[in-house]
Amino acid sequence: MAFSPSSKTRFSFITFFSLSFLCFLFFFSKKLLQPSIFLYTDLLSHNKPSHPSISFAPPLQDQISPTPNEITPDLDPTVKNTSSDVNLVTQKILASEKENLEKSCNLYSGKWVKDNEYPLYGTGSCPFIDEAYSCRENGRKDTEYMKWRWKPWDCELPRFNATDFLERLRGKRLMLVGDSMNRNQFESMLCLLHEALPDKSRMFEIHGYKITKGRGYFIFKFMDYNCTVEFRRSHFLVKEGTRLNREGKTRPTLLIDEIDKSASRWMHADILVFNTGHWWTHGKTARGKDYFQEGGVIYPQFDAVEAFKRAMRTWGRWIDENMNHEKLVFYRGYATAHFSGGDWDSGGTCNGETEPITSGSFLDSYPNKMRIVEDVIREMQFPVILLNVTRLTNFRKDAHPSIYGSVPKGGKSRKQDCSHWCLPGVPDAWNELIYTSLVMDMHH
Ligand SMILES: *[C@@H]1O[C@H](CO)[C@@H](O)[C@H](O)[C@H]1NC(C)=O
Ligand SMILES: *[C@@H]1O[C@H](CO)[C@@H](O)[C@H](O)[C@H]1NC(C)=O
Ligand SMILES: *[C@@H]1O[C@H](CO)[C@@H](O)[C@H](O)[C@H]1NC(C)=O
Ligand SMILES: *[C@@H]1O[C@H](CO)[C@@H](O)[C@H](O)[C@H]1NC(C)=O
Repeated sequence: MAFSPSSKTRFSFITFFSLSFLCFLFFFSKKLLQPSIFLYTDLLSHNKPSHPSISFAPPLQDQISPTPNEITPDLDPTVKNTSSDVNLVTQKILASEKENLEKSCNLYSGKWVKDNEYPLYGTGSCPFIDEAYSCRENGRKDTEYMKWRWKPWDCELPRFNATDFLERLRGKRLMLVGDSMNRNQFESMLCLLHEALPDKSRMFEIHGYKITKGRGYFIFKFMDYNCTVEFRRSHFLVKEGTRLNREGKTRPTLLIDEIDKSASRWMHADILVFNTGHWWTHGKTARGKDYFQEGGVIYPQFDAVEAFKRAMRTWGRWIDENMNHEKLVFYRGYATAHFSGGDWDSGGTCNGETEPITSGSFLDSYPNKMRIVEDVIREMQFPVILLNVTRLTNFRKDAHPSIYGSVPKGGKSRKQDCSHWCLPGVPDAWNELIYTSLVMDMHH
């Protein structure tokens, strides 16, 4: 037939192109899968572009509404149902929990609701709370401040499940790095997880250290999960140094272009939670005079905000250079203090507060330091998850130790602590948000 050669050629051409197209589709969608899963973690940090190619894209919230086709294979519980019915049910529940969260829910926009199942651990049942946060033991009588749960407008946080949290930590090291506010959060984490252990003696500090503010690190081991929960004190995340003044006395300096010494320890953690901010005040940085150091030079005078910016960039660079995608890195947002009628060192108070703030401009205050943190994280390669707890924490003027940060001794006037948090309390909610991130996170 006259037609046969050319139609054969045409046929093989069509076949060839269709096959190539199919191959192309296959590989391309495989490639796409990876970043699209990363985008999920972005739901947590809201506008952190984790993929370089979308670094400078406009607000991600709209763009990242998950494209179902790409994700379904990973989510579909029936794909893996070779195991028992119980597993199937659990998978289904988890999958629906994930789906619920993935619907572009801003975890940080919501309200506090009363919940009688709170607190998540008893005031007397946790041995890891240091005196400064043991408000009940120090005489605080009201208890309502422990009974609030954070509720995002558009979704429910998964119910905190300490056993499940520990399962997710199995074989891993979780480390909190930062100032006393992170020690506050660290103690909350220990209490939350301790609650799930049938045999409490299976969890201990490996050197036998008791938690005090004087010590810079703690490592708690959970024997049955082969995991650790650790704390490393690092007030600034960059390196603290010293200089000699004219009288030959040592004075502190801060090397804003070098990472903190303890960073060699951070490397070994699988999950890191950073914070800093509370030490970046005039009083604690020598008013910027002969304090900030860069490239071996100590600046006679330097602006603390600019120093913070450069220090955060130093931290960001370190993360980019030292973290890989097996790791999970959180930065927990700044928790503003609630001193009224003065500051922490000038007679400010917060005692007698028993209810959260319900409205007003204070709720919307967002520190400049946080904008700097956001900028730094946005410019980084590594997808840091911002726990953007600043606003939800702003509500909680009722939850500070105030005068219950210590047991009063010998008629001394009680100091007011309106910066840290009573435990149980607000840091439990921060940790619930870490748990939420682990539940949502599929590639770890
Ligand atoms: C998985 O479970 C579903 C529903 O329970 C069932 O219809 C399906 O046949 C199962 N698939 C496999 C591979 O066992
Ligand atoms: C908590 O998690 C564990 C381990 O995944 C699971 O067996 C248990 O059923 C969960 N508890 C609740 C109340 O969901
Ligand atoms: C415990 O976890 C560590 C990692 O932190 C791992 O190297 C080790 O093999 C684990 N041990 C057991 C018994 O699973
Ligand atoms: C964090 O929350 C504040 C509101 O408190 C908001 O202005 C800011 O955009 C949020 N940041 C991110 C990265 O979502």
